[in-house]
Amino acid sequence: MFDLIVLGGGPAGYLAAERAGHAGMQVAVVEERALGGVCLNEGCIPTKTLLYSAKLYDGARNGQKYGVTANDITIDHAQVVKRKDKVVRSLVAGVKAQMKANKVTVITGRGVITRKTQEGYEVAAGNETIVGKRLLIATGSVPSVPPIPGLKEGLESGFVLTNREMLDLTEKPERLVIIGGGVIGLEFAGYFNSIGTKVTVVEMLDHIAGETDRDLTDIFQKEMASRGVVFELNAKVTAVGGKDVRFERGGETITVEADKVLLSIGRRPATRDIGLEVIQVYTERGAIVTDDQMRTNVPNVYAAGDVNGRSMLAHTAYREAEVAVSHMLGVRDAMRYEVIPAVIYTNPEIASVGETEATAAAKGLPYKLVKLPMRYSGRYQAENEGGKGIIKLLVNTQTQQILGAHVLSNHASEFIVAAASYVDLGLTLDQIKRLVFPHPTVAEIIREAVFQYEP
Ligand code: NAI
Repeated sequence: MFDLIVLGGGPAGYLAAERAGHAGMQVAVVEERALGGVCLNEGCIPTKTLLYSAKLYDGARNGQKYGVTANDITIDHAQVVKRKDKVVRSLVAGVKAQMKANKVTVITGRGVITRKTQEGYEVAAGNETIVGKRLLIATGSVPSVPPIPGLKEGLESGFVLTNREMLDLTEKPERLVIIGGGVIGLEFAGYFNSIGTKVTVVEMLDHIAGETDRDLTDIFQKEMASRGVVFELNAKVTAVGGKDVRFERGGETITVEADKVLLSIGRRPATRDIGLEVIQVYTERGAIVTDDQMRTNVPNVYAAGDVNGRSMLAHTAYREAEVAVSHMLGVRDAMRYEVIPAVIYTNPEIASVGETEATAAAKGLPYKLVKLPMRYSGRYQAENEGGKGIIKLLVNTQTQQILGAHVLSNHASEFIVAAASYVDLGLTLDQIKRLVFPHPTVAEIIREAVFQYEP
């Protein structure tokens, strides 16, 4: 009998298990693939190792601007993938060690809820049957596969890949067509463009990167286009052939030839065939409905991570896991989705937190904008010859608090947390002005932007 059974060993699942185990609960985690989930095995971490290799390669190739010349620079994609596997193995081992350290029982196999018992919930886990007083459903998400003719066949033949297979490709494709210009599409576009693949991004909307601030994405898109990435916008994919992708724009059908196709048009919560109906967990459009303490409609059943479809980000999953465990332990805690930062780890990076101009206007929030080129930071200039990055701050004109921050710059992923803290804590500009940033740092741009604000 467990105090808690966690279905899924990704960021939400393993962190909840770790926290709950640490607090003295008897915990079991059921994972059918590998601990670490999508993030560690086929998402966040592997893509970052690839992107880092690409960044080094780009830096070496473009070193002349900085007085560095090198000859015969090459990138060995197979070697990059091999190193990626090593990093992943080491981190998965780390998660395993954490489970052990917190006395968490790890069961390999698929977990399916089989019934409610007097004591709690029964789960078929691999070859075992276990019972837990509480359940945390953290089964994550899977790629969405729309009913486009030829797509299913393409996936079966290996012509069309999702992020999972893409990361294990050891041979560089000459021509890659990416369906979907969202986060996954752009990160892969960045990597494959750097290593010399001809990349075409086919996006249904008239812009890339979803809800991300348009000033940032416009600059970013131009930068990527200048490096050779082709963006086909307003492009609705109508068919996938044996060697091409067809899309429609303004009544015209256009065909792009490809050696490989990446499908990245979003992900859907993994809620099928895990027995949710047995205990009648309420879902909406395939996502488990939760409150801000990660409770479902069923007592003692929680859901955290992508499976609740609220914010499909690993760092959201971490926090949701903690909030769920807090609730189990009777500690007051709740999610605040509006202060979760988001990052696209391209080169340069795009990082944001809080309101965009569009969302602030839609909510009728009184705001004024500060928009600065990243050149205002000395460190940025030192490290980004000709860089076109920008920062945008949205300031609430009534409260003098920061409503949102959007940064296109190297290191943006590392320092957006400063802005996120101000938004989260509701600091006013006067309070922020007294905070000292180390000099010179790229992050100082936030301080600069705050001082540039004129009421
Ligand atoms: P996404 O929702 O970010 O982007 C999907 C894109 O595909 C959208 O721009 C959409 O307009 C487009 N699209 C949809 N149907 C289409 C069609 N039939 N033809 C052409 N375009 C179409 O989804 P993505 O990139 O697959 O990522 C999945 C999830 O993983 C996201 O929720 C994302 O937040 C998460 N993720 C986060 C990362 C990060 O935080 N850095 C990195 C990678 C993924």
